[in-house]
Amino acid sequence: MTTTTAKYSTAATDPGSDSGTVVSFRNVTKSYGSVRAVDGLSLELHPGETVALLGPNGAGKSSTLDLLLGLRPADSGSVSLFGTTPREAIAAGRVGAMLQTGGLMEEVTVRELVTLTCALHPRPHPVDQVLGLAGVADIADRMVNKLSGGQEQRVRFALATAGRNDLIVLDEPTTGMDVTSRQAFWATMREQAAEGRTVLFATHYLEEADAIADRVIVLQKGRVLADGTAAEIKAKAGARRIAFDLAGSVDEDALRALPHLTAYERHGETVRLQSADADATVHAVYALGLYPRNLEVAGLGLEQAFIALTEAEEADAS
Ligand SMILES: Nc1ncnc2c1ncn2[C@@H]1O[C@H](COP(=O)(O)OP(=O)(O)OP(=O)(O)O)[C@@H](O)[C@H]1O
Ligand SMILES: [Mg+2]
Repeated sequence: MTTTTAKYSTAATDPGSDSGTVVSFRNVTKSYGSVRAVDGLSLELHPGETVALLGPNGAGKSSTLDLLLGLRPADSGSVSLFGTTPREAIAAGRVGAMLQTGGLMEEVTVRELVTLTCALHPRPHPVDQVLGLAGVADIADRMVNKLSGGQEQRVRFALATAGRNDLIVLDEPTTGMDVTSRQAFWATMREQAAEGRTVLFATHYLEEADAIADRVIVLQKGRVLADGTAAEIKAKAGARRIAFDLAGSVDEDALRALPHLTAYERHGETVRLQSADADATVHAVYALGLYPRNLEVAGLGLEQAFIALTEAEEADAS
């Protein structure tokens, strides 16, 4: 079990009672041997924010969350939660977490595990409410070690929401959940955020980040590549998509040589481009004497923006 709950009861604080900073990283570095997992990271999270942490495999998302929860010490820099150390904030029951790795306690039922976790929390919710919200009421009497992967994820979620936390930290929470469970999960998370809690989650589902987060932080190689709303991230990636159909024979070389292109693709009559300056590219298409039909110009989705950003950074680095 890797859910973090308080072991000691201290003064309970209302979520949102801090006008200050929920999470503060100042120039934090963490290396594993020669791998720099977190590289001079500075960021602040504020009360009530729902923040998605994006990044390719190995970008340092889980390492960042581990440092945030005080599960590992930083090599340098400082990490604070609610103005105190992670350990103090967790002991005060202010943080709920659902991590990527680690097993659940085995020889117990789901209800027993949730009951125990609630008992350890200074501000617990009623056990039945926790089971219901996490969608595990119907499997409450099953043994924890007999659950499917998606069911296990839901139990982890139940443990992370066993009490009233001011900050909820989730590492790829919906991996392994089916579509219905994912929707129910995010509906619950939205309610938690609406009550003023800060939610920080790492994910590879970009549509989740787009739909749920009011702030997106893109990490790569332990550094912040972009930080803003999903719309700002898309704008930062710059590129726009252009699609059109061309009948007849096509001079592929001329198309590939269009100005400002960042991607080119052709399937049959349909040409799909990405361009850093869509207006100029479209002008150049007409200037070639072509007659594109069904012309569409659209902004990038978060997924394409993410790929464009991380690939551009890769290219700069090499
Ligand atoms: N305990 C460890 N020992 C050695 N190297 C580690 C350890 N934990 C992480 N790393 C390395 O640190 C880097 C960052 O890993 P991290 O798990 O933080 O990435 P991530 O962004 O969570 O990736 P994923 O999307 O795959 O979960 C990787 O290169 C990883 O191999
Ligand atoms: Mg990870």
